[in-house]
Amino acid sequence: MSERSASKEARSKPFLTDVHTLRERARQHLSTGAVTTTYRGDVERAIEILQSVLATEIVCVLRYTMHAVTATGISSEGIKAEFTQHAKEEQQHMLAVAQRINQLGGTPNFNPEGLATRSASQYAEGENLVDMIKENLIAERIAVDHYRELIRFFGDDDPGTRVMLEGILTTEEEHANDMQDLLDAHQGEPARPRCRG
Ligand SMILES: [Fe+2]
Ligand SMILES: [Fe+2]
Repeated sequence: MSERSASKEARSKPFLTDVHTLRERARQHLSTGAVTTTYRGDVERAIEILQSVLATEIVCVLRYTMHAVTATGISSEGIKAEFTQHAKEEQQHMLAVAQRINQLGGTPNFNPEGLATRSASQYAEGENLVDMIKENLIAERIAVDHYRELIRFFGDDDPGTRVMLEGILTTEEEHANDMQDLLDAHQGEPARPRCRG
């Protein structure tokens, strides 16, 4: 390798701290826990954003639980099971986000007061099975858009939060797909052309 290309490669590699410095640094400012000196984000802003994500997930737990309990009709059993499964997964998201807020030094906001305003998705009851499925599909599409933006926002500044959101996004995309499939099955014809290979 030429001297020029070697120095170019050195420039493009991220800086790595030596083990001694890492150990020394970790012993300082212990009260900040997981938020060490290499945290490049704005921790206050990150907590504020995650409080809104937490509210979104709580609203999703409530909406799916309500739908799972109240869905009635000849074909409601499979749909109830799907809503119940989604409610469980939304609860896992809720816990993961609350734990991340705690790791960043914040207090997760579970206060029901103002919950609907803090949340990106809405709590909509729906009058029948198809309405319920539609409301859930809308909420999932909001969540997917919101999480994609947040993943780009956190980027390399806060990889811990980004990776958590990436995991949640994958499930939300599956949820949206599940609701689309249910809607197709219960509206009689596909709401949009589906391409299946
Ligand atoms: Fe979720
Ligand atoms: Fe979801």
